[in-house]
Amino acid sequence: MSVSSRLPDFPWDHLVRYAEQARQHPDGIVDLSVGTPVDPTPEVVQQALRAGADSPGYPLTIGRPETRQAALDWLERNHGVTGLGLDQVLPVIGSKELIGSMAVHLGIGAGDLIGYPELAYPTYEVGAALAGARSLATDSLTAFGPEVPRLLWLNSPSNPTGRVLPVDHLRKVVEWCRERGTILVSDECYLECAWEAEPVSVLHPDVCGGSAEGILAVHSLSKRSNLAGYRCAFVAGDAALVGELLAVRKNLGLQMPGPQQRAMAAALDDDVHASEQHARYAARRRVLRDALEGAGFRIDHSEASLYLWATHDEDCWDTVAGLAERGILVAPGSFYGAAGNRHVRVAFTATDERIQAAADRLRA
Ligand SMILES: Cc1ncc(COP(=O)(O)O)c(C=O)c1O
Repeated sequence: MSVSSRLPDFPWDHLVRYAEQARQHPDGIVDLSVGTPVDPTPEVVQQALRAGADSPGYPLTIGRPETRQAALDWLERNHGVTGLGLDQVLPVIGSKELIGSMAVHLGIGAGDLIGYPELAYPTYEVGAALAGARSLATDSLTAFGPEVPRLLWLNSPSNPTGRVLPVDHLRKVVEWCRERGTILVSDECYLECAWEAEPVSVLHPDVCGGSAEGILAVHSLSKRSNLAGYRCAFVAGDAALVGELLAVRKNLGLQMPGPQQRAMAAALDDDVHASEQHARYAARRRVLRDALEGAGFRIDHSEASLYLWATHDEDCWDTVAGLAERGILVAPGSFYGAAGNRHVRVAFTATDERIQAAADRLRA
């Protein structure tokens, strides 16, 4: 069996005809389906990239100490994560590649079980399939019964629902995993995209008790710093797990390019651009939320992330079709798990002008 045939269906192909329909709108498509950043990469980051342009030698897989220190400083300054050393952080080439290859790189394979949220970013399932492992999409630890997953993914704030897990819940999951020897990996790429909640890192002492044992947290600069094109992310946590990933990634040449490492450090060191971007998204979210609610949608969760998890109390594909007629493209909730089949995921990462166009169309 080919490897690709083991992978889940690539869902975006199913959306193509609705994208074509939305493009027919006389004022053009408003594409709220993907959630790719559209605002400029911050000048301070562009400058750092330019300053690092002379880069003749191979970068080290472990990354520059300054880059790793910037990640640790940011975790401590903005998220209260203390006590991590430089051997507990590793730059990666965007978080998607790490998420997709984590299981394989940690030696998880046939016969093993991997858990991830019931409604989830599809790459957790891809990673399990690539490893040949079994997977279970659930939010309930009891759903595992007597089975012990080798790896459990958390994602708070969540894509697609925007749900934030409270500290108590996170702490229970940490304890459950530690009792069983399950590796806990928390995808925290929306940690700073919060509107009506205060998401907490799994590495915060209130959650992990001040020890990263058995835990990894994955962070990405794509959304916080409009850096999706640079592929800048990192993983932090348990020194032995980071060391294992490093040992494998060294052999595969999975090195973050030197100029990008400098850019990532500059982005992590600067909170000004992040708060400006946060304000932009907050305003867009308000406009879109009001317009969706005015058009009869209910918004569930959505207290953080860059999405509104909206329902019209009908099959998600009917909602996708109805919005495509108005020139608005959204993602059907079923892309993220069967439990999403009556919701759509509406990204608010478009320009102010496109968000306003969507709001006008929803009101018309
Ligand atoms: C939950 C989640 N994790 C990871 C990623 C990947 O981000 P990147 O590869 O840009 O770091 C995304 C992207 O949308 C995401 O939604």
